[in-house]
Amino acid sequence: MSGLRLLSRLFFSIAFVPALYAADATVELEKFHGDLHDLPSLQRGAQTYMNYCLGCHSLQYQRYKRTADDLGVPEKLFSDHLILTGAKIGDHIRSTMDPELAKNWFGTPPPDLTMVTRVRSEDWVYSYLKSFYLDDSRPFGVNNRVFPNVGMPHALLELQGVLKEGCRQVPRIAANGGEARDPLVPGRTLTETQCGFLNLEEGTGRQSAEEYDRTVTDLVNFLSYVADPSRKQRERIGVFVLLYLAIFFVFAWLLNREYWRHIH
Ligand code: HEC
Repeated sequence: MSGLRLLSRLFFSIAFVPALYAADATVELEKFHGDLHDLPSLQRGAQTYMNYCLGCHSLQYQRYKRTADDLGVPEKLFSDHLILTGAKIGDHIRSTMDPELAKNWFGTPPPDLTMVTRVRSEDWVYSYLKSFYLDDSRPFGVNNRVFPNVGMPHALLELQGVLKEGCRQVPRIAANGGEARDPLVPGRTLTETQCGFLNLEEGTGRQSAEEYDRTVTDLVNFLSYVADPSRKQRERIGVFVLLYLAIFFVFAWLLNREYWRHIH
């Protein structure tokens, strides 16, 4: 390949690859606010995961024991309440679902989720779990805003309740950019119908909107921990390393001054 062609390829990949990824994101993602140091949140997330997700998705690069230790849960307690597959505490977190059967049921086997927050981003997974809505044309009766035509049923439906695509009244925007007013009735703003919003059917879920947000936040927090279990430890050690370097610098500088004293 000539140098020029190589150069133009490089240019195209640099210029257009980000554009392709951007084009993929059709909906705006919600921001995820989690805290890896919040152990109760991670514990609740683990509980939700074991109850609602492990039936289909493994976390095959993570072991139960490591999880119990990092989350501050005694091993006995963890085994009794959070190992629901009959696995041992030293085992990897594996789903018992047969991938071949799963492929028949869902069209694609449920992927392993150990690294999903790093592949898709935390915001993506958070938004995804909040974006299932009723759609009768899909095999499981639900579709997803963030991942259109996804093969997964809404695993947390009983908690969140039913979201439906619907319409609502929004203020009409006038030509000058403000809200349009009714010329006949002073002070009344004009509205128009906009469709495509997701409305929650009140009372169809076991949790309120705030509780569901917290459930999903805890769950994504847990997945974020699983994707990088040593992050907390690394950050703690990092502080010591920097402190050590700072102290070492003083002695190195003093020694350096001593060496050069007679040369200048
Ligand atoms: C009944 C089986 C089932 C359950 C339960 C389930 N999922 Fe899924 N999930 C799937 C399938 C199948 C896919 C693949 C869908 C596709 O690619 O069309 C999927 C895809 C995903 C993806 C997208 C992965 C990617 O990067 O493409 C995420 C994230 C996810 N699931 C998270 C969860 C979480 C979190 C839970 C628990 C609350 C859960 N799932 C429960 C079957 C399931």
